[in-house]
Amino acid sequence: MFKLKFMSFFEEKNPEMDRYLEAHASSESEILKKLRRETYQKTTQPHMISGYQQGRLLTIISQMMQPKNVLEIGTFTGYATLCLAAGLGKDGKITTLDVNEDLAYLPKKYFEESEYSDKIIFKLQDAKQFLKETDEFFDLVFVDADKENYAEYFKLIKPRTRSGSVIMFDNVLWYGKVLEENPKLKSTQSIKELNDLAAKDEDFENLILPLRDGVNFLRRK
Ligand SMILES: C[S@@+](CC[C@H](N)C(=O)[O-])C[C@H]1O[C@@H](n2cnc3c(N)ncnc32)[C@H](O)[C@@H]1O
Repeated sequence: MFKLKFMSFFEEKNPEMDRYLEAHASSESEILKKLRRETYQKTTQPHMISGYQQGRLLTIISQMMQPKNVLEIGTFTGYATLCLAAGLGKDGKITTLDVNEDLAYLPKKYFEESEYSDKIIFKLQDAKQFLKETDEFFDLVFVDADKENYAEYFKLIKPRTRSGSVIMFDNVLWYGKVLEENPKLKSTQSIKELNDLAAKDEDFENLILPLRDGVNFLRRK
């Protein structure tokens, strides 16, 4: 248990190693640096930001896939949105959803300032409602919002994917709480259910990457 927790809190517990990892990866763009700084200055829960390493992963996957249609659930200040937008294919677009009206000015400002302003659709809308109403298909989906709904999100996203589509769920180790046998928290129960569904669903192949708090990475066969 301790070892897993240690891995999950890797960055916080190993600042030296974190600096090493950062120094040996492509550098963060100026706009992402600025956005990260402002997120720490202006928000009460800045740790919710995807951050540098996860941002790099999202960009590399998006660049490899060159998706036409991306969906992000949980915009927050827009860090991951910009990372995903960096790999959009020609005529590609990303729809990003959040329900926090008070913070919306921040992602809006950075989306407008970015080179992807015409490719980002930012909606203040509940993700379940959006998924129930949309008839779009998505090549790449990044889920990083209310953990209590993770299992439900998987069920709603699946019909909106096709062969080759990729879904990524963030925080699927939940700081080690997924090892609890009978968790009391609804968030832990839902994340555990999602991880079980993902592993059993024969339409997908998947892997949990122990990066930060764990990313469940699924690809539709
Ligand atoms: C962990 S943050 C997202 C971090 C962001 N992806 C990033 O990389 O910086 C989670 C966000 O999900 C949003 N959220 C919570 N419930 C939601 C819902 N039902 N629909 C859409 N967004 C939701 C919250 O307002 C919050 O901004």
